[in-house]
Amino acid sequence: MKILYAASEAQPVAASGGLADVAGSLPKALVEEGHEACVVVPLYVNTIKQQWRDQMTYVTNFSVPVGWRNQYCGLFTAKINNVTYYFLDNEYYFKRDFGLYGYYDDAERYAFFSRAVLEMLKVIDFKPQIINSNDWQCALIPVYYSIFYRNDEKLWGIKNVFTIHNIQYQGRYGMEILEDVLGIPKHFASLMEYDRDINLMKAAIEVADKVTTVSPTYSKEILDPWFSHGLDRALSDKQYKTCGFLNGIDTDMYNPATDPSIPANFTVSKKAGKKICTQKLLEEVGLPQGEEPVLGMVSRLVEHKGFDLVKCVFDDIINLGYKVVILGSGEAQYEQFFHEMRWKYPDRVAFTCGYIPDLAKKIYAGANMFLMPSKSEPCGLAQMISLRYGTIPIVRKTGGLADSIVDCGDENGTGYTFQSYNAHDMLYAVKRAKDCYWNKTEWNKLVTRAMKADFSWKQSAKLYIGLYKELAGEQ
Ligand code: GLC
Repeated sequence: MKILYAASEAQPVAASGGLADVAGSLPKALVEEGHEACVVVPLYVNTIKQQWRDQMTYVTNFSVPVGWRNQYCGLFTAKINNVTYYFLDNEYYFKRDFGLYGYYDDAERYAFFSRAVLEMLKVIDFKPQIINSNDWQCALIPVYYSIFYRNDEKLWGIKNVFTIHNIQYQGRYGMEILEDVLGIPKHFASLMEYDRDINLMKAAIEVADKVTTVSPTYSKEILDPWFSHGLDRALSDKQYKTCGFLNGIDTDMYNPATDPSIPANFTVSKKAGKKICTQKLLEEVGLPQGEEPVLGMVSRLVEHKGFDLVKCVFDDIINLGYKVVILGSGEAQYEQFFHEMRWKYPDRVAFTCGYIPDLAKKIYAGANMFLMPSKSEPCGLAQMISLRYGTIPIVRKTGGLADSIVDCGDENGTGYTFQSYNAHDMLYAVKRAKDCYWNKTEWNKLVTRAMKADFSWKQSAKLYIGLYKELAGEQ
């Protein structure tokens, strides 16, 4: 199969969240299965490191309609992890000072990118059978395809898959951008409109041949207003073309046996290195050594990640005998709370405000448990990474967390789960984990099961291929 994977970020070149992990690892898995999968991303001038810039070669340039005008687009390419990456270059849109998103003209930036992806296909020697577009930033790809390109002699017959990684971010704008910025004729206004706004994700859901989400449970949850951020009405009559596949992780990148960023390597059969990782972690974050269980958290500090629950019973967690190591930044109220807790419990709590990928890995490897009490979680990757590093996840049963973690009430359990979004239910799961931790034989068995759990892309890549083949009419 020939697949073009379009995303606003992809590992290893540009990343702000889990989308980049998936865009970096699913195409790689498709290539390993013998398919021709390419990735296309914007060429973010100040974000993409020189190391990758040096590997890029210039292919050509072409012009891209944006609203009523045309803009330059340069095309570069590089082979990364055996996958062909295309980079679309326009410094006006993608040479910015801070981060990838959050600019006043994001709608225009990603309208440009989406249209440029399709224009690119007119000039390169690669015709995909499938374009898999991701999240709101690429939602205009299936939309533009259905309006402007489906009858183009070079692009005819391509099928569009649209993947929702997080339904919270939909690309909502005022109706006034329809023609001037998006370049979409007025008579398509009803396709683009939702609740009196332009809603890019809703339009993609309408026109895509298939809509996928990143776990089976999440694909059901988003039909419910509690999870859908308003889009349940758009999805309810599209269930026939919606499904959910659980993400995998890149098991080469996250491998405790070879990972160079952790202080000692370890495997299921030789776990001694894990203990060293715990000791070094405590040392690095300034906590005293000791046998107490270490509970790790690496997360954006925002409400839907469950921090209101953590805040509510934090003292009780400490009273259970835990040391807690937190890495993350986000809402001021949570940053301030963890600063206070570090001050209140200097021997028990370490808080690093920010995001440091290296420290994140040291927490995955060095902690004993990993807490993810999310209110909603489309898939979640941290719980899978933790398992691989023998760190036992404690999670709320939602979205991908429900699909990847089996509670230890079952003999095949790999973690601790709780159902209702309630601080004391979470606390009970945290307590059960601690009780098991002190039973060294049981704990060791649990860590072994966790490390053996397979969350590589092998299974899920097959599901995507099955879907792509079905759409392309292949067996
Ligand atoms: C988003 C979701 C997260 C998911 C990731 C990759 O970041 O919030 O749950 O794991 O996308 O699909």
